[in-house]
Amino acid sequence: MTDTVLALDGISKSYGAVKALTGVTFSIARGEIHTLLGENGAGKSTTLKIIKGEVTPDSGTLTIEGSPVTEFDPANADRYGISMVHQELAVFENMTVAENVFIDRPPCRGGLIDSRAMNARTAELLELFGLEIDPRERLLHLTPGQRQIIEILRAINAERKVLILDEPTSGLNARESEILLALLQRLRAQGQTVVFVSHRLGDVLQISDRITVLRDGAVVETLVNDGLTEDHLVARMVGRVLSAMQHRPAAEERIRQPVVLEVEGLSRREAFEDVSLALHRGEIVGVYGLEGSGTSELSHALFGLIPVEAGTISITGEVVDDLEPLSMIRHGVSYLNSNRKDAGLFMSRPVADNISAPVLRQEARFGMIDEKKLAARAVAAVKRFAIRVASTDVPPQNLSGGNQQKVMLSACLAPDPSILIVNEPTRGVDVGAKAEVYRALTELADSGKSLITFSSELPELLLLADRIMVMRARRISGWLTRPAMTEERVMALAAGTR
Ligand SMILES: Nc1ncnc2c1ncn2[C@@H]1O[C@H](COP(=O)(O)OP(=O)(O)O)[C@@H](O)[C@H]1O
Ligand SMILES: [Mg+2]
Repeated sequence: MTDTVLALDGISKSYGAVKALTGVTFSIARGEIHTLLGENGAGKSTTLKIIKGEVTPDSGTLTIEGSPVTEFDPANADRYGISMVHQELAVFENMTVAENVFIDRPPCRGGLIDSRAMNARTAELLELFGLEIDPRERLLHLTPGQRQIIEILRAINAERKVLILDEPTSGLNARESEILLALLQRLRAQGQTVVFVSHRLGDVLQISDRITVLRDGAVVETLVNDGLTEDHLVARMVGRVLSAMQHRPAAEERIRQPVVLEVEGLSRREAFEDVSLALHRGEIVGVYGLEGSGTSELSHALFGLIPVEAGTISITGEVVDDLEPLSMIRHGVSYLNSNRKDAGLFMSRPVADNISAPVLRQEARFGMIDEKKLAARAVAAVKRFAIRVASTDVPPQNLSGGNQQKVMLSACLAPDPSILIVNEPTRGVDVGAKAEVYRALTELADSGKSLITFSSELPELLLLADRIMVMRARRISGWLTRPAMTEERVMALAAGTR
């Protein structure tokens, strides 16, 4: 008999007219890793918040360790031994790493906080992730991935019976994710129960004991992870079989097209060295490298967002003398950012304004904005990329991640660029919408635009790219084309193994 820690029975929850959950029923066994899987908006976070006592369901029963919960309150969940890492970061930038880890209950001695013990324990936890960070460092100075790890360490440090992680790997690089997955497996071996949410199906299959699939606020089924495949999971999540995305057909002739962008000997101290590449018309070049390989800085430098110390960028044969974003735009280059919230969209302004934002200043030159033109551009973009939005007056904050990403893509096409630098095009986007973003990017290349795509998701690059440039230790470690362009070869070049 399995020992049930948590049981949900007929749980429903609505927010106004939105039915977030309807009749959700499943249970979590002691000592298992149980994954909740579903597209954005399927109801995963709401389910977890109910378990954590942060949200009160409209109906249904939650049973913890055999007793039905009568009062939904995080303090109760705490007492039962449930800790949770939220999807949204909840760290304190002005506090130190150790203070963040021990936010709930710092160790005390003689009525005072025992900083030494706190820092020592934090150093041990950091060691788990191989992070060389001073526990006294303020979070302000850490990368987003590191901050996320700090939040995870806080939950682990709490040593509760049930650890809930809502999309903990979304901000982590491949190595950090690997470490986290190994850590979760170790915790399970020690008897910890883990409830996990992730869009990375490979990760889900690697560590889960059971998987509960949610669709539109209802449980599709709970699966035992035995002989499951990614295709099977995707089909259950989206309720339809996605026609397997096809690789771009190999096109020898693409590299015989004219070179539109040429990079020669580009270097930036402590970032990347001697990077050269030629991008042809209609071509998608993928760039891959592990964290610290220099790809992230290179993506910024190519659009003039950060300066370089040596090297040139030429566009259609002409050297760009001032490498900064405005002049790159003038030369027909656009940049698609991965971070929709911070650097991309005006979340509370209408979709139509967002789509035209990059050209508004230019078009308002004569003191007048052509509202008709803006509206027409927005309507065309919505149609072209099948953006799911009731009207172009709706702000992006009401859209799913995938649709937000398509709005971003439309915005960066507003100046009609011939070259796109694309950075992590599907970060935080669910599987269904990923396929649509891929289709949009492929279609752009088919229409003659040239793309340089940076991604930490290798399957994505293998799908999209005509060629892949791999970086390691700040230098190009190799180029691959089909049929040699396989996951193994790319990884070998990225990791420096044979
Ligand atoms: N606080 C809220 N107010 C209004 N609607 C909400 C709120 N929280 C969630 N929803 C809606 O409930 C549905 C489920 O959301 P959520 O549980 O966050 O899904 P997931 O985590 O699977 O992406 C979505 O349609 C979402 O827009
Ligand atoms: Mg969620």
